[in-house]
Amino acid sequence: MENIRISVLVVNLNTLNYTKECIEDLLTQDIRFNLTIINQNSDEVGTEEYLDVLFKNHINGNLGSNLHVLTIRNSGYNKPLNKIWNDFVTENDTEFICLLNNDVRISPNFLSSAIQVLDNEPIVGFVNHVTNNKEYQHWYNKLEYEIIQQPFRQGWDPIFRRECYSDIPENLILYFGDDYIYSKLYYSGYKGAYVLNSPMIHLCSATTPNKGRFNTGDSDRSLYMSMTDVYHHLSFDEKFSKLTPEFFKILHNDRISIINDIIEKNNFKSYLEIGVRNTFECFDLINCEIKDSVDPGFESEINNVKYTLTSDEFFKQLNLGNLDKDFDYKWDIIFIDGLHLSYQVDLDIRNSLNHLSKNGIIVVHDCNPPTLHHAREDYSNHDTPAKGIWNGTVWKTFFKMRCTEPNLDMCVVDCDWGVGLIKKGSQKICEVNNPYFEYSIFDKNRVNSLNLIKLNQYQEWLINPFY
Ligand SMILES: C[S@@+](CC[C@H](N)C(=O)[O-])C[C@H]1O[C@@H](n2cnc3c(N)ncnc32)[C@H](O)[C@@H]1O
Repeated sequence: MENIRISVLVVNLNTLNYTKECIEDLLTQDIRFNLTIINQNSDEVGTEEYLDVLFKNHINGNLGSNLHVLTIRNSGYNKPLNKIWNDFVTENDTEFICLLNNDVRISPNFLSSAIQVLDNEPIVGFVNHVTNNKEYQHWYNKLEYEIIQQPFRQGWDPIFRRECYSDIPENLILYFGDDYIYSKLYYSGYKGAYVLNSPMIHLCSATTPNKGRFNTGDSDRSLYMSMTDVYHHLSFDEKFSKLTPEFFKILHNDRISIINDIIEKNNFKSYLEIGVRNTFECFDLINCEIKDSVDPGFESEINNVKYTLTSDEFFKQLNLGNLDKDFDYKWDIIFIDGLHLSYQVDLDIRNSLNHLSKNGIIVVHDCNPPTLHHAREDYSNHDTPAKGIWNGTVWKTFFKMRCTEPNLDMCVVDCDWGVGLIKKGSQKICEVNNPYFEYSIFDKNRVNSLNLIKLNQYQEWLINPFY
């Protein structure tokens, strides 16, 4: 029996016309798939009957389609979509997952073209189909796609590797669910891609009656063609360049909120970020009067930092008085997130200490790798279970300084891969015996090695260090 590789979810909420057409399109798919339809307690006349007949026809083999397992459930009224998505992914262990809106029309190669891309491109974690685009109104079998280098999100309808999914937190408000999914997909170290040869039509937020639905209630191609000019003329570029600040806030929330909180509480005026990559990921979200950024641009398409230098070169030039600042300029808060290898982090911390104001704070990212794979030396090796996620060997520097620097106060906040905090002061020297920096010893002693504290403890630490 052929292996079923993809499970599809469609949610119906008093929008049977849309669901029917979407199912009609799914029944033409050219590969086998499992389908779950969640009926959100619809009271629309004909819904129960339609779903009953569909199920019976499926069981009796009358559908003549590639649909393998059909599951139909009533979710109860307005159950949060986030929960529906989480449950669906938990219950379906196929390699790929498709979260489909019901107000879409899709081509017969909708699922297969996405899977082809995912098979061809190990770096691609999720695929979207070019949508409502006048340049792409016809489907064809020759695979065409584009891997998009910068982060993007396209509302619903992604097809992704199941292994990339993490449960959406229950307290996340409804409409951030898809932002969250996208941010987690990126966080898994993968990129997104658009398939071009299987475009889709999405009839725009038409999931609840009287909200976003077209007046006629129709949902066919002629309606699509009569959409507003603006919609008609959305370019492909416009589609994939949609970035929302919320997206990045969710992705990197902890370190950003810790840095902003420290700046606000201490009335700090100047911030330096070493290792920026894309300014929209963190730098732009920091609230501080004077902001400086350093990055040689190894990982970004566009390097729009102020100092396009390695951190070593930056501090060298700064110390020589060759930059637009005094040679002994001091920042209130310095975020070190550049090259994640111990010797470089050591240099970055020492250089930063020389340019830190009296009561300043150094923040160091990636101090608490969860596994040896995350703590590997080779950033480019994506063949371990950590995939593209890399914390590097930052932990070694942090641990070493905990053992050798009595005149610093250090702790690591246990969130967001370990957010290390350093200030001038004093600390009890760490006595964990790990002179050769063995990961397994670190793993057993990470609380003492790092002075690992909980997210709700760092404010207390800022005032009263505990050892
Ligand atoms: C993990 S990314 C930074 C992410 C960003 N700070 C954030 O919070 O989203 C690491 C960055 O460090 C930069 N980098 C690598 N080697 C560096 C070096 N020697 N000095 C400064 N930056 C470096 C890379 O170019 C990359 O953009």
